[in-house]
Amino acid sequence: MPSIVTLISGRGSNFEAIVKTAQKEQWPVTFAGVIANHSAAKGLDFARSQGIPAFAIEHKEHATRESFDAALIKKIDELGADLVVLAGFMRILTPGFIRHFEGRLINIHPALLPAFPGLHTHERALEAGVAEHGASVHFVTEGVDEGPIICQASVPVLPGDDADTLAARVLAAEHQIYPRAVKWFLDGRLRIEGNQVQVQPPESQLIKL
Ligand code: GRF
Repeated sequence: MPSIVTLISGRGSNFEAIVKTAQKEQWPVTFAGVIANHSAAKGLDFARSQGIPAFAIEHKEHATRESFDAALIKKIDELGADLVVLAGFMRILTPGFIRHFEGRLINIHPALLPAFPGLHTHERALEAGVAEHGASVHFVTEGVDEGPIICQASVPVLPGDDADTLAARVLAAEHQIYPRAVKWFLDGRLRIEGNQVQVQPPESQLIKL
């Protein structure tokens, strides 16, 4: 059975959406472990409640990014990961880490990439006055929030939205596309061609909500 290791930093609602979808749809998959970069990450509690091994590797105990990432690589390799899922993991990963897991490392970003990479995406979308915002699941490459896009969900920006109402609408969309992208990966349906991802057999890589 293929196995997934997930990295989180906070509440872990995307991780929870993936696990619950896997349970409901009875995916043949093992959730080999969840690792957070600090022990207070709420998502670790959910993992434990599901019997999924949960670990904290405190980034503050490492003097350098390289040393922290080396500890992460060691743990993930011990657990055994066919797929590494970044779900709200708020640390920048070193090129060495990214190369180690190349092709089996995915992330979700709360914007319609390539628009709004980086932080504070909802505030920036409102400031820019866009009519649509959303989320993207992508393979991770060395550029921050770059890398071939697997699927996206778009949501409208509505009159009266603030960053919180918009974030909530986007988060609901995230919870739909992340499980879908993970399942496509597990089913071997993704082909990376240059900076594009093809799903075979084809299926829409954009959900409009
Ligand atoms: C999500 O909005 C995700 O796109 C971003 O961080 C947030 C994590 O939320 N990278 P959660 O921890 O999955 O609830």
